[in-house]
Amino acid sequence: MKILLLGSGGREHALALKLKERSGVDLVSAPGSDALAELGARVAMDAADPKAVAGWCAANRPDLVVIGPEAPLVAGVADAVRALGIPVFGHGAATARLEGSKAFAKDFMERHDLPTAASVTVGDWASGEAVIRNWAWGLPIVLKADGLAAGKGVVLAETEAEALDTLRAFLDGAFGEASKTVVLEAPLLGMELSLHVLVDVDADHASYLMLPACQDHKRIFEGDKGPNTGGMGVFGPIPFVRAEDTERMRKELVEPTVRGLQKDGLVGRGVLFLGVMWTAEGPKLLEYNCRFGDPETQVLMQLLDEDLAALLLAVAKGSLDQNAVKVKPGCAITVVLAAEGYPDRPKTGVPIEIKAPKCAIIHAGTKKVEGRWTVNGGRVLNLATSAPTLAEARKKAEGDLAEVAWPGMQARKDIGLKALQHAEAGKTVQDRW
Ligand code: AMP
Ligand code: GLY
Repeated sequence: MKILLLGSGGREHALALKLKERSGVDLVSAPGSDALAELGARVAMDAADPKAVAGWCAANRPDLVVIGPEAPLVAGVADAVRALGIPVFGHGAATARLEGSKAFAKDFMERHDLPTAASVTVGDWASGEAVIRNWAWGLPIVLKADGLAAGKGVVLAETEAEALDTLRAFLDGAFGEASKTVVLEAPLLGMELSLHVLVDVDADHASYLMLPACQDHKRIFEGDKGPNTGGMGVFGPIPFVRAEDTERMRKELVEPTVRGLQKDGLVGRGVLFLGVMWTAEGPKLLEYNCRFGDPETQVLMQLLDEDLAALLLAVAKGSLDQNAVKVKPGCAITVVLAAEGYPDRPKTGVPIEIKAPKCAIIHAGTKKVEGRWTVNGGRVLNLATSAPTLAEARKKAEGDLAEVAWPGMQARKDIGLKALQHAEAGKTVQDRW
């Protein structure tokens, strides 16, 4: 089976390793990375250019195209390739708007009665200022740039003045067109989790598969301090999320989403990653992503006990006929090894020393220079492993921090620690986080 995988980061390396578990998979990545090049051919093309990708597909006829990042989905790459009759795991542009426009996503949530934070969408200074000056939803004031902003478009403003400054910066084009429309949102307090759902939905049928909920750690420093990042580590499943809690998310979040897609005539041919905040009133939807999370994928691929190529092909062809995924017992973890200076100014070009790690090494931002792996991005490597319990998984990953290193490397040693303590204290999702 010839598979074209679009993307170049840790998510794609994790997907590629899982796809290659099946014999006979011929993998091609674009634009790929030096690590992906060790698993198959690499094509130099802009993954977010529908014409370029469709042109390559027309000439090379892959059996399946798997789209990793959001930019190609929002740009309509899936539509362009599907028009050739080639199966694509990845939503068309109309559905990818759920991630590409936060205002569109909030409208969708409100239209279909999904529990979410109250919000107002504004597109000019006078109305935005009036909303902030009359703010009655408590602090922080959450400001979200409408469009894609490389994970930097959400600000939790602690004061009215900070909210006004942020609004001004957004409307002045801090993220270009992406921040000319701003969603002002009430704060949600609670425990955040990442819920991935494979969706095969069109006018005639709807099937979906929930993957185990996992938890990311967005701040750069231990104890959830410092600036936000793309994610410093994930573990899953979450030990205190019970079967009944998962059922609640199915009924309150997943099923209304699937029904909403159908009612709106939107087709689902990929994954939806629901950002969920479990509040005192239960689970609420923070946002939709139309792609797999990074580094959530690294954990999900450790857990999944399935032929990934077959599963993604079924979604791509609209023939998904199972309603539960097989997962391995135990808990998986991934710890991100980030560059010095990340997230602001990552220092690249530094050679990496890899001794004898026990974890799988997933490459996110590396480059091979004269036969040696070097730092080539903010998030550089991921240690990924699993064990019977979260405590053991944590220990295994921590043990490898001495096995893989470079000067200035940053890694959080507390991935999963808060959840472990919550579980060990006998607390549930409803208890204060
Ligand atoms: P995003 O970049 O869209 O993933 O959002 C970044 C982070 O902002 C989320 O992962 C949440 O931790 C936080 N966030 C988003 N919306 C809210 C909200 N309404 N209340 C509290 N935190 C939020
Ligand atoms: N880890 C969060 C994301 O992929 O958006």
